[in-house]
Amino acid sequence: MKKNVITAKIQRFNRKVDKVPWYQEYKIEVEDRKSMSVLELVKHIHDKIDRTLAYRNVRCHIGVCTACLMNINGKNLRACSTTVSPGDELTIGPAKRTGPVVRDLVIDFGMMRDQEAIDESIEKR
Ligand code: FES
Repeated sequence: MKKNVITAKIQRFNRKVDKVPWYQEYKIEVEDRKSMSVLELVKHIHDKIDRTLAYRNVRCHIGVCTACLMNINGKNLRACSTTVSPGDELTIGPAKRTGPVVRDLVIDFGMMRDQEAIDESIEKR
């Protein structure tokens, strides 16, 4: 079967070793024409390529809870309901204006107790 590639630049930050965030590029081979969610892509990178990548793989996976919120190509979006297709290039970082970065794509949402404020940070596609 023909393979195609998704290129993802993902922001990395580990406060124990990094002074500033930096980006790591991953090239992921996928089946031609097969789209997936950004959350599935990040999970694939974590499970198959780089176990050091930190992200939240919890909650609903149906676009309700906002636990998967990430900054995707400059917009805060739910990673579980944002799709990516072969040939796409995307930049992924922790959600902005939501709370402090714990590590890589993980935000401390506990610092932002107002769910309405989290919802307002989500961009409309
Ligand atoms: S996992 Fe709940 S909105 Fe994405």
